[in-house]
Amino acid sequence: MTVRPGTTSRRGFLRAGLAASVAVPTAVSAARGQGAPDPLITEVQDWARYSGEGVDATPYGLPIHFESDVIRRNVSWLTADTISSINFTPIHQLDGTITPAGCAFERHHSGAIELAKPDYRLMINGLVDRELVFTYEDLERFPRSQGVYFCECAANTGMEWAGAQLNGSQFTHGMIHNMEYVGVSLKTLLAEAGVKPEGKWIYVEGADASSNGRSIPIEKAMDDVMVAFKANGEALRKEHGYPARLVVPGWEGNLWVKWLRRIEVTAGPVESREETSKYTDTLANGVSRKWTWVMDAKSVVTAPSPQVGIKHGPGPLVITGLAWSGRGAIARVDVSVDGGKNWTTARLAQPGVPMAMTRFYLDHVWDGEEMLLQSRAVDETGYVQPTKNALREIRGENSIYHNNGIQTWWIKKDGSAENVEVS
Ligand code: MTE
Ligand code: CO
Repeated sequence: MTVRPGTTSRRGFLRAGLAASVAVPTAVSAARGQGAPDPLITEVQDWARYSGEGVDATPYGLPIHFESDVIRRNVSWLTADTISSINFTPIHQLDGTITPAGCAFERHHSGAIELAKPDYRLMINGLVDRELVFTYEDLERFPRSQGVYFCECAANTGMEWAGAQLNGSQFTHGMIHNMEYVGVSLKTLLAEAGVKPEGKWIYVEGADASSNGRSIPIEKAMDDVMVAFKANGEALRKEHGYPARLVVPGWEGNLWVKWLRRIEVTAGPVESREETSKYTDTLANGVSRKWTWVMDAKSVVTAPSPQVGIKHGPGPLVITGLAWSGRGAIARVDVSVDGGKNWTTARLAQPGVPMAMTRFYLDHVWDGEEMLLQSRAVDETGYVQPTKNALREIRGENSIYHNNGIQTWWIKKDGSAENVEVS
């Protein structure tokens, strides 16, 4: 993937503080009781007069056509072609935590391949007692495990290092999805092969031309890694690695090898392309940091945000977003409406789940004034999501990957929103 540096850095653009918002409670909307009668209330509508479609109309359903704008989108200048490509989850239009597979982001290094179950083979070789090859049916006969996990590309938010750039949480934070996986624990398969004492790493490969080979320490492989064949209850989509992919909870998306074909137990890391020239973090002094596996705690306000402005006047406003951490569960999310000067603890829709997305809400009363909207995640280890400037002080601006800095949306009086940075 080619990532261009920020074109217009708006850092320092908004320095002036905004006046603290004044809570002015109002009714949600004016009562419609006065004036002309509302035919939607007073008249029988067609949908109540005639039968709807029968149950056979859609054996496998798609979202109703009114929702046809809830789709993955691309950033045209970001990818030179559609073979080595990326698209973005419409997180600004979703709620709750589960990403529907149909609009979950995809990242392919050599295109999405079609691999039928009868053609599927998974090999375990290297430093094992028995080298093994599993068919898809073999995998289905091992005891199953299940878990909800986020998968975040290390490059998520990567375009924002040099300043606010893309207008929308879909584009700044949409290289992420959160699904419920079912599959077999990798430790179960490795136990079947018998890992030799010298086996300290595994090297995992996909069946696609890129192979996306990555090294993983044996401790993680024996911990919570899964070979998954179902997501959100159904078969993986082709683009997510049908018929089986690796799920590496809390670790960068690049390790989640799709169309998984081979696991080699090795004494050391392979130092493949994807873990040397790519997926390393070049620091200010030009030295690249490697093995940045864990995704640090991060959050973003999904609405209101640039693609979903406020459509109503002052009064009750639902501020909502997502938080996640690769180190465990989200413990708390704070929201600021004044660019980080004051923080209010948001309401978590459900207690945090380790290595899965958490939905937060701030039930706000908007005074109709401008806001500099931010969210800040805290995970169960006590780690606090840093500001972008704090991150840059340590990491410099040469990086692409692992940008978990606090995002700011400038909400204007007319309800529209823009991606900005505060200093
Ligand atoms: N696995 C294979 N075999 N080929 C790939 O191109 N892309 C990786 C990873 N696994 C990739 C792969 C990257 S960079 C990411 S972020 C995730 O898959 C994306 O998973 P998704 O396409 O299901 O969203
Ligand atoms: Co990726």
